[in-house]
Amino acid sequence: MSEQLIEVQDNAGVVRLTINRPKALNALNSEVIDKLGSILDGLETHDDLRAVLITGAGEKAFVAGADITEMRDKTPEQAREFAGQALRTIKRLETLPVPVVALVNGFCLGGGCELALACDWAVASDNAVFGQPEVLLGVIPGFGGTQRLPRRVGPAMALDLVTTGRKIDASEALRIGLVNRVMPQAELEDYVAELTKQLGGNGPKSVRAAKQAVHDGMDQDLDSALALETSLFALCFAGEEQTEGMSAFVEKRKPNF
Ligand code: CAA
Repeated sequence: MSEQLIEVQDNAGVVRLTINRPKALNALNSEVIDKLGSILDGLETHDDLRAVLITGAGEKAFVAGADITEMRDKTPEQAREFAGQALRTIKRLETLPVPVVALVNGFCLGGGCELALACDWAVASDNAVFGQPEVLLGVIPGFGGTQRLPRRVGPAMALDLVTTGRKIDASEALRIGLVNRVMPQAELEDYVAELTKQLGGNGPKSVRAAKQAVHDGMDQDLDSALALETSLFALCFAGEEQTEGMSAFVEKRKPNF
């Protein structure tokens, strides 16, 4: 692996991002967040994007949090700026029009857990460890954890995690709905390859519409969200994917999207 702070590999529109600070367990400092922002500039205008995978370099960590060394001497104003920069960048990752998958290969703590929470999917190795340990450092989650965690796992479990700072293993993360799948570490890559093949092979416009319906609908009342779904559903019938998908079914063949 080269010395890029974030490695980017594009395989037919499935883009894999590897945060590459293994000596610091891939902790998120301003430089990593800046770099992620520049990469997102390219992904937001990538017409053939199918899916994005984000992971951490090395065998020990996805991301062990925001960089504590960098944060230690910050003033409240600097902390607000740092959190703002990270929040904006993480939001841009979250709102990419394609599925974003966190490939959690170890420690997923603090800002790392918050990064994974902004992804549509989280697939974890069976040795992954999750938590929001900020209260143990005298702070609270600052990259969205107090807001995305209750939306993902419910307020009771979120309060448990953010007020105790306790760490949970992959099986508990799966049980509470923090992750979608847990795999033995040796099988993780094969599983993710299969998943991205599946995501990449589906109709790209309908996958984007499905993501948009879920994301945009979550922030609306049910009636408005259902109306949004109807609009997006109807729009699917204006494109070639619906014709191909339904014709393939009727003709008993695989669709070619
Ligand atoms: N920031 C900066 N450096 C970190 C780091 C972090 N979040 N996490 C780990 N590192 C560094 C360690 O300082 C160490 O560096 P040195 O070799 O130079 O000493 C290196 O990574 C390896 O870590 P450890 O030696 O500690 O490894 P370990 O196996 O003994 O422990 C660990 C692993 C349990 C994950 C431990 O490193 C740890 O507790 N890390 C901090 C986790 C944490 O508190 N995260 C939340 C950060 S605050 C935050 O994220 C706020 C927010 O919401 C914005």
